[in-house]
Amino acid sequence: MPQIFIDGQPFEARTEQTVMQVADENGIYIPRLCWHPQLSIAGNCRICVVQIEGRSWVEISCNMPVSEGLRVLTDTELVRAHRKATMQFLTLNHPVDCGICDKAGECTLQDYHVAYNGEASISHEPKVVATKFYELSSRITLDNERCILCTRCVRFTREVSQSHALGVLDRGDHSVIRPAGGEGARPLEQDAYSDNIIDICPVGALLSRQFLYKERVWYLKATPSVCPGCARGCTIDIWHRRPEWALKSLDPRHNASISRVTPRDNPAVNGPWVCNKARDLAQLLERPRAHAPMTRGREVGLDAALAAARALIGKARHPVALVSSWASNEELQAFKAAFGARFTCFVKADHQPAEDEVVQDGLLIRADKNPNGDTARALFGDAAPTFAPDTDLVLVWGEGADFARLPRGVPVILLGAFLAPENGHAEVFFPLSVMTERRGHYTNFQGITSAFEACFAPAPGVVHAVQVFEKLALREAVTS
Ligand code: SF4
Ligand code: SF4
Ligand code: FES
Repeated sequence: MPQIFIDGQPFEARTEQTVMQVADENGIYIPRLCWHPQLSIAGNCRICVVQIEGRSWVEISCNMPVSEGLRVLTDTELVRAHRKATMQFLTLNHPVDCGICDKAGECTLQDYHVAYNGEASISHEPKVVATKFYELSSRITLDNERCILCTRCVRFTREVSQSHALGVLDRGDHSVIRPAGGEGARPLEQDAYSDNIIDICPVGALLSRQFLYKERVWYLKATPSVCPGCARGCTIDIWHRRPEWALKSLDPRHNASISRVTPRDNPAVNGPWVCNKARDLAQLLERPRAHAPMTRGREVGLDAALAAARALIGKARHPVALVSSWASNEELQAFKAAFGARFTCFVKADHQPAEDEVVQDGLLIRADKNPNGDTARALFGDAAPTFAPDTDLVLVWGEGADFARLPRGVPVILLGAFLAPENGHAEVFFPLSVMTERRGHYTNFQGITSAFEACFAPAPGVVHAVQVFEKLALREAVTS
């Protein structure tokens, strides 16, 4: 284990480490733009320069191997001068349109300008004009004027998603990021992980088209959550309007909707990445909601619906339950405690792979498009749903049930969050909360449990599944 010195302090390093990694591990911050912990080293931005004691020049620390006795200085006059010159060079042709840039507020270039430059431009030359809105895909727009050519996005598509969708075209101040295949090609369209390049772009050059000009990031709050899109259960941050910045004069739904989704770094599950399905969570969770309990299609109060369900359960001799694989660990436990012995239970897949969706790959995406199928199967078995001829009640929890295959004429108690024709056909229907309205845990296919927190208050009229089970079970116990 070589010992190195950073700013005079001794640190034990591992042979394969670089100076930047040792500094990171020991709380010494060295700026970086092109370096990313999950990508190969490009060494092109030059902001990470340090000085070796006794030398009169600077070198980049992201590509500097450690060696016994190495003595590095991270904050000398020479280092500061080089960082300042680098920042002036990087912003030479930058449009400085931070006022309309989605990255403003979380832009490394902004932060570094304040920290390492702090002066107005000294250039008297006109800026080189580049393409302002280049559509890389239906999801991502590229602003070449803001791009600092760090190549993080290019390396991501080569090394992580392996779509090889991007490259650098031309040289010098005419260099631009362009799609592989030439002008107009859209290879990113086939990259199921493409939106990660928006996160890792250190500036506002790669823009999410679904987020573009919709919000300023300082009005948003990130709530920890879990992507329910497949059995990987990637940890995510769901960004939504801060309560203290709630909009009062616009549609109030704006204050209770998902603005964007980003990965929450989790080395054990998804690292710093997610697939695009997580980014589209709003489309899944913000479908038209069911807001009222019903009996035979007629809206009733919750108590009336509970009474009707209780009566059905009370008289059933051979009830069957189709358990949701989107339910949280807590909800599954609550159902097991309340009705595990009363119903014959089968776990159903609430969601199947969509037609245009990657079913499974070697990076993150899993074929099981449900977040908690393994936990549900551990509690209720993995047999496929079957209905004995004497089945006299079916409880369907969540989506994905094939109603045409339920036994004919048998009453159905249905619990669901979204508007669906089946809601009105059920004997009793309960409108449930969605995961952004409650907290809970999912356990993924690796057996790793992750928590999700509530982002919003439950929509009016909806009820948590746990409350339904507890209320039903309570009265069952009293009446039996
Ligand atoms: S678009 Fe962003 S990530 Fe890609 S090279 Fe330019 S600055 Fe780097
Ligand atoms: S891999 Fe699965 S859990 Fe992860 S973001 Fe994609 S759909 Fe969600
Ligand atoms: S971070 Fe080292 S050269 Fe860019």
